[in-house]
Amino acid sequence: MIRALALGLLLAAAPAAAQDKPAPPRPGNGLALTPPMGWNSWNKFACNVDEALIRRTADALVSSGMRDAGYAYVVIDDCWHGKRDAHGDIQPDPARFPSGMKALGDYIHAHGLKFGIYSDAGAQTCGGRPGSQGREYQDAAQYAAWGVDYLKYDWCNTGTRDAAEAYTLMSDALRATGRAILLSICEWGNHKPWNWARNVGNMWRTTGDIYDGWQGKKGYSWGMLDILDMNAELHPFAGPGGWNDPDMLEVGNGGMSDDEYRAHFAMWAMLAAPLMAGNDIAGMSEATRAILTNAEIVAVDQDPLGQQARRIADSGGLEVWARPLADGSRAVALLNRGKEPAAIRVDWTAIGYPAKLKAQVRDLWEHRDLGARAGGFETQVRGHAAVIVKVMP
Ligand code: GLA
Repeated sequence: MIRALALGLLLAAAPAAAQDKPAPPRPGNGLALTPPMGWNSWNKFACNVDEALIRRTADALVSSGMRDAGYAYVVIDDCWHGKRDAHGDIQPDPARFPSGMKALGDYIHAHGLKFGIYSDAGAQTCGGRPGSQGREYQDAAQYAAWGVDYLKYDWCNTGTRDAAEAYTLMSDALRATGRAILLSICEWGNHKPWNWARNVGNMWRTTGDIYDGWQGKKGYSWGMLDILDMNAELHPFAGPGGWNDPDMLEVGNGGMSDDEYRAHFAMWAMLAAPLMAGNDIAGMSEATRAILTNAEIVAVDQDPLGQQARRIADSGGLEVWARPLADGSRAVALLNRGKEPAAIRVDWTAIGYPAKLKAQVRDLWEHRDLGARAGGFETQVRGHAAVIVKVMP
């Protein structure tokens, strides 16, 4: 009787003891130690993709200085697909990609760039092309044979699939190829990927799609500021190897002013967001090129500490965002959401410095040292614009 009781206690205790032991952590794939940078076809070209566009873009990434500024991945989004062949291997649309994906990957690699492609965890992609559900290992092997370095994996037509499970399955399939393939998770934040996606993928979309506008919901898409707001509280989850993805850049697509695009770009850098240009690289203006290749702002995004900014002040649409950088300095963005120009101030105590500290302030858009300031820094910010400075103790 006593023995039975003791056994009962033992059995009852066993599952609790097993739970106390944390599951061994899933190792990362070693990629994306800083936020991924590149270009993606979707925002500008949607389903109008073909090999001529991809080649033209690879050429322009080199000649414009974008590659040397850090934009490495050339990602073909939805609608490149043709049918599966007799073995079930996915093939590109033969009319749009007559030379085949291996040749296109070789062309991209010969430019010192990396090759990215798109699929979906459902039976069909959002554009109605074949998805990878049930074909994960076969598709991963095909991508590896083509020399693919990056997979964006979407979430349309997934029915009742479990997101963490579906993305882990594709993550495992990619690793089984032996090729280093970055995984970009795109389930729009529906299943809170920041809680489970680290070491499954290297970046995870946090929201629905962006559109090329300052603010406001439009159908299933969101303006730039809405997406910024939805990422504000996610800072604890970003870091080397895995990043919150507030969606691809709209800089240069025509729907916003250059000041608004500068604000968009600066805030994405503050968020430690992947910087995936979404414009026509071959046809971009000098203003667009200057925004995307601003080395000091790209350096904020790519800072090795990988700490996403926090919103530290917010009064009537005038905001201060700050993030610590690896060298002990701070990047600070002063964002004016309103239409009228306004003064915005950051106090040193709000960014972890003593009030009496004299810190050097540098304007990162203007590449200009503003001198040493005690107590804080205040400046006039135009409407729908952001000033971004580096504060160095
Ligand atoms: C979804 C994604 C977009 C894009 C399209 C392609 O909407 O969120 O980024 O990939 O699908 O159809």
